[in-house]
Amino acid sequence: MRGPGRIAVRSVAHDGGLATRPPSRYILGVAGSRAHCSRGGTPVARFRRIDTGAPIAAGSSLLSDAETARLARLRSADDREAFTAAHLLVRSCAAALVGMEPRHLEFVQRCASCGRDGHGRPTIVGHPDVHVSLSHTRGCVAAVAARSPCGIDVEMIHRGPPPRGVLTEREAAWVRDDPDPARAFTMLWVRKEALVKAGIGTLAEVGSLDVLDPGSAGVPATMETWADPPYVGAWVVLDRAPT
Ligand SMILES: CC(C)(COP(=O)(O)OP(=O)(O)OC[C@H]1O[C@@H](n2cnc3c(N)ncnc32)[C@H](O)[C@@H]1OP(=O)(O)O)[C@@H](O)C(=O)NCCC(=O)NCCS
Ligand SMILES: [Zn+2]
Repeated sequence: MRGPGRIAVRSVAHDGGLATRPPSRYILGVAGSRAHCSRGGTPVARFRRIDTGAPIAAGSSLLSDAETARLARLRSADDREAFTAAHLLVRSCAAALVGMEPRHLEFVQRCASCGRDGHGRPTIVGHPDVHVSLSHTRGCVAAVAARSPCGIDVEMIHRGPPPRGVLTEREAAWVRDDPDPARAFTMLWVRKEALVKAGIGTLAEVGSLDVLDPGSAGVPATMETWADPPYVGAWVVLDRAPT
């Protein structure tokens, strides 16, 4: 494990049943600087495994009308659970960051592509200095809140051949040399998605976004990657907004 950029996540190991991070032996890699920590507190990052048969329904009254409408359009119960869990988890992260109750925070989304509300990058109304990000996949969700732009992604380990054109040559060689290339690929992929969500480039550009080393993406940031098989995730907090 690389060490210099590592920061502590301001959460206890378990918080009302929400595991905030897996045991440290699962932390795969850490990159970045910690400069932003002095500018506004420690980010709150949490992930949560969703156990089948343990519905997330409690707390779903916190969802906005827009979220409730989107939830109703999801056909799979697993997707509904993951959506709800992620949208509640991001509120819990933001609430912990600002020291308020989740029910007092208004969560909204606006899409930069189509300009509509109800999907796209999430924000917290009335807290322009609070940045949030969330991710959901069947069986696992993750969220982060910070005082500067942030992104998080969680994925099930991609067991097929890696998609073409999404890794730099150096990353591709690194994945090939890893004893578990599928896990190695997914670890890089979640870093890239986390950076995209934080505002660094687009999904179409990730093939040239090197995320192997601290600072290799050219952006001062703190990044942490974890593995909780079959899931891998990463979060990133930028030192400042991209220019
Ligand atoms: C953002 C994106 C990278 C996430 O990909 P994903 O791995 O499939 O899904 P995840 O669960 O990890 O993340 C989804 C969450 O990212 C957030 N998100 C969506 N767009 C975002 C953006 N532009 N920036 C930051 N976060 C975004 C949302 O909170 C979303 O959750 P929700 O759908 O429950 O509201 C991908 O959805 C994407 O590229 N979206 C842009 C596509 C676009 O512009 N569509 C236009 C629709 S009109
Ligand atoms: Zn849109």
